Amino acid sequence: MEIRLVDKAVETLEADVLAVVVFEKGKPFGPRVEANQALKRFLTPLLESGDLPSKLYETAVFQRPEGLKARRLLVIGGGKLEKFGAFELRRAAGTAVRVLKSKGYGEVVFFPDGNVTNAEAAGVTVEGSTVADFDPGRYKSGENNDKHLGIFLVAVADDPGVAEAVRRAQIVATSQNFARELINEPGNFLTPTVLAQRAQTMASASGLLCDVLDRARCEELKMGSFLAVAQGSAEPPAFIVLKHLPAAAPSAPVLGLVGKGVTFDTGGISIKPAENMDKMKYDMAGGAAMIAAMRAISQLQPHVRVMAFIPATENMPGSRAVKPGDIRTAMSGKTIEVLNTDAEGRMILADALHYARTLGCTHLIDAATLTGAIGVALGQINAGVFSNNSAFQERVLGCARDAGERMWPMPMDDDYMEQIKGTFADLLNTGGRYGGAITAAMFLRAFVEDTPWVHLDIAGTAWVDDNKPYQAKGASGVAVRTLVNLVMGYAS
Ligand code: BES
Ligand code: MN
Ligand code: ZN
Repeated sequence: MEIRLVDKAVETLEADVLAVVVFEKGKPFGPRVEANQALKRFLTPLLESGDLPSKLYETAVFQRPEGLKARRLLVIGGGKLEKFGAFELRRAAGTAVRVLKSKGYGEVVFFPDGNVTNAEAAGVTVEGSTVADFDPGRYKSGENNDKHLGIFLVAVADDPGVAEAVRRAQIVATSQNFARELINEPGNFLTPTVLAQRAQTMASASGLLCDVLDRARCEELKMGSFLAVAQGSAEPPAFIVLKHLPAAAPSAPVLGLVGKGVTFDTGGISIKPAENMDKMKYDMAGGAAMIAAMRAISQLQPHVRVMAFIPATENMPGSRAVKPGDIRTAMSGKTIEVLNTDAEGRMILADALHYARTLGCTHLIDAATLTGAIGVALGQINAGVFSNNSAFQERVLGCARDAGERMWPMPMDDDYMEQIKGTFADLLNTGGRYGGAITAAMFLRAFVEDTPWVHLDIAGTAWVDDNKPYQAKGASGVAVRTLVNLVMGYAS
């Protein structure tokens, strides 16, 4: 997607389409439209006749708008002006892109508005547009997915922070789309081996170090918990490690990004029902988020050490598969009784979190499509945020807010631990129906010990069941923007 900043009066631009936001009655125009006589003159009579959309993300197109050089004016409803900030502008821009692409237009001039600074407006417009430009139809025959809308930004261009905001937004949003591309890939194409190859290709193009540990290497490292999940599949597992290691003081933080990389989750011997099992190709969304965040980091080059760990495997039934009742020893030495082979995410993350600590990570953050229970608790709107360190948790929540990704803190009282204490082994891999997302997080906590750690349960938010005005159905790419914000925050 081509993006350009234009520092000219909007009414003089000869564009296919000019896009503006208007709001519900009371305060129908934002500060930037208010300051533009030509736009106000054209919009005011339409407002008075009730012909402008005002509900959030509703749209209308007007041909040959009088007093403007643009051939069409796209008006996007913004809802209430007081409530319209960066989050809503990002989605409004996405809505415009999806409407215009469906009509086959080639370019749009954005006149962003709302309660945002120029740099914010530019950044979120680029992010929203880039995310909306993503087409999930790559395996549809006879379709051309190479058509991209060009976007031009006006009214915010004359600000020194804007160019940098645009550059960063482009890197972050194309990385988010890279995650979505990986997540949408079906399990037959994107095996653990292929995921590792995709990570390796990305890394060699961008100067990151990439190690892929095979089954034998994981055995040497005694990753008994990861390998328990992997043993049921004919596809070999791959433990992917990516490193961004600029020179830094020995005492400076080392961030560890850990992502669940189950390329297909059948449930294993505790097999899942057929309905919706196709969606379990997205069980590597946490891993994809980490690989994509590393892509962004490699381009932004922050002065902070970051490593990513993605245990990748299938979870399959079979004669060699791990069975309910089996006991395995994790890399940390803790023993685990496998009560349910479908609780495989926590098992692979247990070894990944421990391994990250042995490589010197001082702060850990993981993202995983870990539990259906998080969707019961928070719906498909918020990701769950669990932590053993409230300062670190607050920091991550702040990054999520700034990134426009909805996340919500979840409790981790010690009392929940009772549910996963074993009789035959140290830990049980499930804690029963009650508080399923929390007991899963408690299980992970046992492997991070006192290292500051945040766990993002993205099972409810990593997949969008229906097309949205601003985003295509399928992988959402959630967590990428938050993770990049977090890493950038440690660099400055
Ligand atoms: N990958 C699933 C969680 C999941 C569910 C992700 C729905 C996306 C949508 C995970 O491996 C799983 O199966 N969890 C079980 C845990 C249970 C057996 C304790 C679950 O949530 O049912
Ligand atoms: Mn499972
Ligand atoms: Zn799973």
